Amino acid sequence: MFWSLLAFLAVTAGHAELWITLVNRVYGLPIPIRTLHRIRATHDVAIFAFPCLVYWRIGLSGPSAFFSGQWGQLSPPWIVVFLACSAGLAGLIYSIGAWWIRTRRCMTAGTRVALIALPRGSAKQEDTGSAETAGGRTELVSAATKRLTRFPLNQQFELETTEKQLAPANWPAELDGLSILHLSDWHLCSTFSRQFYETAAAAASRVRADMICFSGDLSDDIDCLDWLPTTLGSLSAPLGNWFILGNHDALIDHAHIRSRMVAIGWNDLGGKTAKLDVGPATVVVGGDEVPWLNAVPRWSADDRALPRLLLAHSPDRFPHHSGEGVDLILAGHTHGGQIILPVVGPVYAPSRYGCRFPSGVYVQGSTVMHVSRGLAGMHPIRFGARPEITRLVIRSPKCLAEHSRDELRTSDREQTQPARRD
Ligand SMILES: [Fe+2]
Repeated sequence: MFWSLLAFLAVTAGHAELWITLVNRVYGLPIPIRTLHRIRATHDVAIFAFPCLVYWRIGLSGPSAFFSGQWGQLSPPWIVVFLACSAGLAGLIYSIGAWWIRTRRCMTAGTRVALIALPRGSAKQEDTGSAETAGGRTELVSAATKRLTRFPLNQQFELETTEKQLAPANWPAELDGLSILHLSDWHLCSTFSRQFYETAAAAASRVRADMICFSGDLSDDIDCLDWLPTTLGSLSAPLGNWFILGNHDALIDHAHIRSRMVAIGWNDLGGKTAKLDVGPATVVVGGDEVPWLNAVPRWSADDRALPRLLLAHSPDRFPHHSGEGVDLILAGHTHGGQIILPVVGPVYAPSRYGCRFPSGVYVQGSTVMHVSRGLAGMHPIRFGARPEITRLVIRSPKCLAEHSRDELRTSDREQTQPARRD
């Protein structure tokens, strides 16, 4: 009986992994939203229906393999299904190993500065305006989706302010200590109240930073853009506010979203680059909304000689831009894996690399990438992947090395000085 139960769990886990792998991959690609929703809905049904089917067809009737141990009596189609599930299980074991060995430490980089409770409850109809506004999408979120907010242990309403130090290999000493407030994936929509976003914006306004960057997925609902002046519109920084859009913005009137962001004083970086005078040096900033909007930003020969900061909605752009020698990439999109299971790790990350970059700090060559867990989402449920606003301090490796040498000398001096007698 024990082995039968174990086999049942293994087959079920392998099956679920196959569907989750498919969903993660397709959501990282520019596939029409209706197709994505169909795949997602099939995934939802299949994950719960498959164990019931196996239990009924294999456990209770037919060969009763789980109870009799007569696995040789399985019909050829079931053997094929079980072989596929075994492949899924092997993939799951690999993912768990990769999470423990490689990804987990990247996700835990930095320190938590504050934990803020965000208001629960969805937006009232009058808060979101009428259906006749530009884009004309009012009630996008189903009642069932909104009910997810009431799920026990849901951490969607626990906002973390974190601070992380990043040290790209070629970051110049003149720019040592540049600070950036990194925001991402606010998904303005009626699942949440206006107060939810205003509380998050108030927390962001308390973070001191030289510049503010937003890495896409601003809104799921055109009507909720009316909340911008009292949320993202209330933020400012000496070197300006910069933004790109993401795949969810691409589903609605993204030109309108762009113009509303520009109207509240944010600089549009979608598909563009710009030179930013930072006093002692110049930084080139760029924005990559590929594969959903605009083209890949082009770096001129002059740009390549300067420190470069890129906003990219998807962390899938990391290999391309690290190959281009970009110093720092700020991304979002993967929401920290949305659900992090004990032992197993992150589950849902819409990326063609699966759960390779759910959130945190990643280094490849001379490029450092920070992936934000973002604030909200179309699916308002999070476990182990709290919403996040992040203060990044960009350090020059040269200055860091000098600083640690100075510290070493000071501690040596303190140790060699004779102890004073009182
Ligand atoms: Fe998102």
